Amino acid sequence: MDIPWWRDAVVYEIYVRSFADASGDGVGDLAGVREHLPYLRRLGVDAIWLTPFYPSPMADGGYDVADYRDVDPLFGSLTDFDALVADAHELGLRVLVDIVPNHSSSEHPWFQAALRGEGRDRYIFRDTINNWQSTFSGPAWTQVADGQYYLHLFAPEQPDFNWRNPEVHQEFLDILRFWLDRGVDGFRIDVAMGLYKAEGLPDVGDQSFKAVSPVWGQPEVHNVYRDWRRLLDGYPGERMAVGEVWTDSPEDLALYVRPDELQQSFNFAWLQAPWSPTAFKKVIDDTLGTVPFATWVLSNHDVVRHRTRYETADPGTGLARARAALLTMLALPGSAYLYQGEELGLPEVTDLPAEARQDPVFFQSEGKLPGRDGCRVPIPWTVDTPSYGFSPGGVEPWLPQPATFAELSVEKQEGDADSTLEFYRRALACHRDLVREIPYTLEWQASPEGALFFTRGPVICAINCGTHPVRLPEHDTVLLASGPLKGSLLPPDTAVWLSS
Ligand code: GLC
Repeated sequence: MDIPWWRDAVVYEIYVRSFADASGDGVGDLAGVREHLPYLRRLGVDAIWLTPFYPSPMADGGYDVADYRDVDPLFGSLTDFDALVADAHELGLRVLVDIVPNHSSSEHPWFQAALRGEGRDRYIFRDTINNWQSTFSGPAWTQVADGQYYLHLFAPEQPDFNWRNPEVHQEFLDILRFWLDRGVDGFRIDVAMGLYKAEGLPDVGDQSFKAVSPVWGQPEVHNVYRDWRRLLDGYPGERMAVGEVWTDSPEDLALYVRPDELQQSFNFAWLQAPWSPTAFKKVIDDTLGTVPFATWVLSNHDVVRHRTRYETADPGTGLARARAALLTMLALPGSAYLYQGEELGLPEVTDLPAEARQDPVFFQSEGKLPGRDGCRVPIPWTVDTPSYGFSPGGVEPWLPQPATFAELSVEKQEGDADSTLEFYRRALACHRDLVREIPYTLEWQASPEGALFFTRGPVICAINCGTHPVRLPEHDTVLLASGPLKGSLLPPDTAVWLSS
């Protein structure tokens, strides 16, 4: 069987607002991404995923789409998009775009018409409401002038579509065609377990993301992905889709990646697991035991950066663990999704002042939840203030960067063999050379307490999550380590690839 490109791909998430600003307005844009494609090629990723760049009032950073077939002037134009795709393909990088089918912006012409009383059935309007809460805090219903309420599982500016209306279905097939015809290699599907809500909209006890509940994961959603899959398969070049599916159950996750549905679904289990060999082993076994093609994710634009999640009272632990986790994930069968800035070891920025914050989560929770701005702070490219090379000229970026970003900048790390950036480059190169050539299986080996050892063909991977050094497994050569080894010992918070 031919191995599809995405099976072992490393995909790099670009949160467009925060990657690189070419226009000089303090906000990242498509031209900024285009300028930095050679950096991504050199880093060694196979594909990029662009977060939404469509016209939007930016109530949720662009996940509130007002026009699904254009580019917001803040990010450039369709011409910039076409140039970006052409350059990426020239460099051998695939391009995924984000598609947001659960809800639109309240500025979308359909919702504006609905407010005027036309085509309300494209959204979910009711005279009386249930007890559903918005994922961002507060009620999931907002009343309009004539007394009806509409459903929004996120911000009030993000009304949920009514997928029981065939017009919505047709519209999205057409939107997918629009981007496929422009040459995209696939889609990241936002809130993929949303879309359909249980008939009758019954009250719920537990509102959390669950793969199957009256709010999420209704069985009808799978027919949407079957149609989308047929559409993707009708195009040449192995076009694909990866779904954002939050669930505690690997079996429910597997429903989205049945052979006639999506090719991949994000696997958030590792991201939610503590630093523990038993937790990691369970995640790996559950994943490989249930889904045909695995994905691995440590961070994204919605969660606290993993360097910070792994931090302890001992300074340096978070970064050491982040590097060890990356090396271990890259050794597993499947594809890895990296989030911009993790290759620099960026931490979460936890001390953003309230007046700088932008995330609706912060506002809807009345400041009780910090929101997601801390992982969205613009990337430091150089050591120079005010924006560390993010924006040209003296412009301040849309979120303030901490002074520690100078030391973490690309300029500072480039060429320093011990830096996280150079470590990522070596790890991705090694991954490219070795891992794809070996069978899509993993064998556990006996491991000392606190550690996990496994082999994939001739490659042995060992990670030490414990508090004491452990003896390295028998091997020929050390291929790559996430931190310094002590002779034949693997120190705590370190991973290694060995060849046998
Ligand atoms: C997804 C996105 C998140 C957004 C939400 C609503 O979870 O990743 O950033 O706020 O959907 O669109």
